[in-house]
Amino acid sequence: MTTSLHQPRLKLYDLHPPLHDIRAEVIHGLSQPQKVMSPKLLYDKRGAELFDEICELDEYYLTRTEIAILQTYASEIAALIGNGALIEFGSGSSQKIRILLDAMPNLATYVGLDISKQHLQESCSRLAADYPDLQAIAICADYTQPLNLPYIAAIHQKHKVGFFPGSSIGNLEPDDVVQFLKNAAIFLNPNGDFLIGVDLKKDKAILEPAYDDAKGVSAAFALNLLERINRELGADFDLNQFEYQATYNSIGRIEMNLVSCIDQVIHLGDTAISFRAGETLRTENSYKYTIHEFQELAALAGFRTRAVWTDDQQLFSLHYLHLA
Ligand code: AVJ
Repeated sequence: MTTSLHQPRLKLYDLHPPLHDIRAEVIHGLSQPQKVMSPKLLYDKRGAELFDEICELDEYYLTRTEIAILQTYASEIAALIGNGALIEFGSGSSQKIRILLDAMPNLATYVGLDISKQHLQESCSRLAADYPDLQAIAICADYTQPLNLPYIAAIHQKHKVGFFPGSSIGNLEPDDVVQFLKNAAIFLNPNGDFLIGVDLKKDKAILEPAYDDAKGVSAAFALNLLERINRELGADFDLNQFEYQATYNSIGRIEMNLVSCIDQVIHLGDTAISFRAGETLRTENSYKYTIHEFQELAALAGFRTRAVWTDDQQLFSLHYLHLA
């Protein structure tokens, strides 16, 4: 179960997350009245590259704003974390984790959790190499599911602090946020903490361009999903017959859609799927919360607020939650 990687100090625990049956998932999503795809499918190699490009866009304020908040409050955050175990949900937002690690020379343990073993090994090996005094542990698992971890003293004997940056939580439906936080609480208890980045509700004039930028990177990111399905499942989506659209729904979420330009039928093996002209395929929802709304969801999972930090334009929030 434990393997030494290129980095002798890095331990890997492979919990063997079940492989997704992408074909069944895609066909199920395309059979709904509102056609839908799992946002997870966006991140093949090309998709991950395009997402990195999105994070650099002028319009996409989220990444740079969260980084600025982390930098501004790093010592305050470090004091709350103490010298326990910092557990990153979705390993590899390396710039962000490094801001924290640089502020915490006495941190005992870093734990990277990721469903992609290759991505996990690469990012954790780099961290282990760059922080020689840190105990680095990589766990290959699906962190959206309850974690079934073996006893690992370097984690379980420590004060555990989860870290889930980027407003990744925004892809979940609010009910699923509560379930996700409840699962995390089981792992982080007793007395664990959770540091979570959450994008804030704001004017649609700022939000919509962030998800539909002038250079068309956001559109390419969504359309890459169709290309992936064509390549991996042998489908025949014509990328020229779909248009990308991002709209802010007043219930508080950005809805990202691929809109069919014409009446058309797509084939996926022996399954035929028809689209009407103007019909949408939902690629992502990205929920936005007020600080108070998010605190209320967190409370349903047993978390209390220790601190919340924002930027001076109130674009983004970083919540430090504690299990009572
Ligand atoms: C990775 C879910 C945080 O919702 O801002 C960005 C994904 N999609 N632009 C977000 C995304 C298109 C992103 N999250």
